[in-house]
Amino acid sequence: MSTAVPSLASPPDLSPWFTHLKELPPPPLALAAFFGNDRPVELEVGTGRGLFLTTAGEAHPDINFLGIECDLKEARRAATRFQKRQYPNVRLVGGDANVFLPRYLPAGSMQAVHVYFPDPWWKKRHRKRRIFNPAFVAECARLIPPGGLLHSWTDVAEYFTVICSQINISPAFRELPPPEEREASHDMDYHTSYERKKRKEGLPIYRARWERLPLASQ
Ligand SMILES: C[S@@+](CC[C@H](N)C(=O)[O-])C[C@H]1O[C@@H](n2cnc3c(N)ncnc32)[C@H](O)[C@@H]1O
Repeated sequence: MSTAVPSLASPPDLSPWFTHLKELPPPPLALAAFFGNDRPVELEVGTGRGLFLTTAGEAHPDINFLGIECDLKEARRAATRFQKRQYPNVRLVGGDANVFLPRYLPAGSMQAVHVYFPDPWWKKRHRKRRIFNPAFVAECARLIPPGGLLHSWTDVAEYFTVICSQINISPAFRELPPPEEREASHDMDYHTSYERKKRKEGLPIYRARWERLPLASQ
């Protein structure tokens, strides 16, 4: 009989589905090597439980989906599901998007950026922690090539107004009509876990998307 005691110290290996920011090779991230192919890449900032990456990854096997999530426990939980299903085109990085995007991701490398239900940081003194600010919008403009898309949804009307005004003031983006509303066909048929939660609470969901425009100097 073995007397070996399993180690509780080291978390299970979730590579290549989960990589901590500190474990990435030196920047910039070589996306073709990271995914094992050179298909287009879409980024989700603040992936939470990973429902969007799961659904989008399954629906679009020809696109690579990259997530960044700073809540490492949540990120590892999502990556465990990606590992179980052996998704070839979904990868998650654990860390702060404000570090990962500017430091690791090459200009023009994201066909789309998705930001769903970003933390609203209700208290006024915490507002500066919000992911959307002019620098983040400029970062999205750097990452998305002309013709690419920036998507954002939230249930917070005030934050939605702020997000829209920050993006609409940028000459790099043009607002498009939102995707058509549709009824969920089953209990998990929502864009993200937060959408599911908020719809079940009967709250309105504000949805918008923008096209990246070519700039005169580009
Ligand atoms: C309200 S939750 C929404 C999660 C998911 N998008 C959804 O709709 O279900 C916001 C998520 O963004 C993550 N987040 C907030 N700031 C972040 C940052 N700077 N970098 C990476 N993730 C961030 C939080 O940890 C949290 O999981």
